[in-house]
Amino acid sequence: MLGTFEIYQKIVAIPGAVLDVGTWRGQTAVLCENFRAILEPLNFQRKIHAFDTFTGYAGFTEIDGGRDSALYSDGTYSLPGDYAQLLKKLLQLHERNNAMGHVNGKHKVWEGDCRETLSAFELQHPGEIVALAWFDLNALVPTRDAFERIVKRLAPGGVIAFWQLTRGGEIPAEGMLYVMELAGRYEHQLHRTEAYPSLCYLTFPKGAGAAK
Ligand SMILES: C[S@@+](CC[C@H](N)C(=O)[O-])C[C@H]1O[C@@H](n2cnc3c(N)ncnc32)[C@H](O)[C@@H]1O
Repeated sequence: MLGTFEIYQKIVAIPGAVLDVGTWRGQTAVLCENFRAILEPLNFQRKIHAFDTFTGYAGFTEIDGGRDSALYSDGTYSLPGDYAQLLKKLLQLHERNNAMGHVNGKHKVWEGDCRETLSAFELQHPGEIVALAWFDLNALVPTRDAFERIVKRLAPGGVIAFWQLTRGGEIPAEGMLYVMELAGRYEHQLHRTEAYPSLCYLTFPKGAGAAK
């Protein structure tokens, strides 16, 4: 919680949405709703979009070799029942109980493979700027696809947070994306949170203009 708060504070002065890509039970999205309400209760423009299959991982290929496949394979981390619906209700409940809670509808839950739902997001929200995106997909192909889509919408000063960037022994996709595609190609700074060292984030001073 403290690590996510540390990151949210970086975007208070930056316009744009929060995207939680690989939201699972939605804990980060729910935390962000509460950080929004505490730190910027009048910022009704800050939308929170939560993406997940809710049926577990999708998109592992042979390039993801070397991971702990008991934990990280297509279908693991699936959730019972209609979790997308439950998460929508959960977000609404938090929103309604928070400051300015009578102004509703600041969230959207996107159910399905994010390679498809991010396409739908692009069609439905063509002008949505992104201030902060959380990544926790852990298969290289969807991680790369989501990164390429999201970085194009990133506000100057925007932040991309990776939950597993330095956990290459167990789950190498984010580290591979960083080393192979991102490090030399996008102007950025790399940080780790003080409260939770494995949670790392990149700040992009030029936002979508970061590509060299
Ligand atoms: C480790 S969990 C995320 C945990 C979450 N960040 C948290 O802090 O609670 C990874 C999530 O990514 C989702 N996921 C994996 N591949 C996906 C894909 N291609 N599209 C959408 N969601 C995906 C899984 O369903 C799973 O819920």
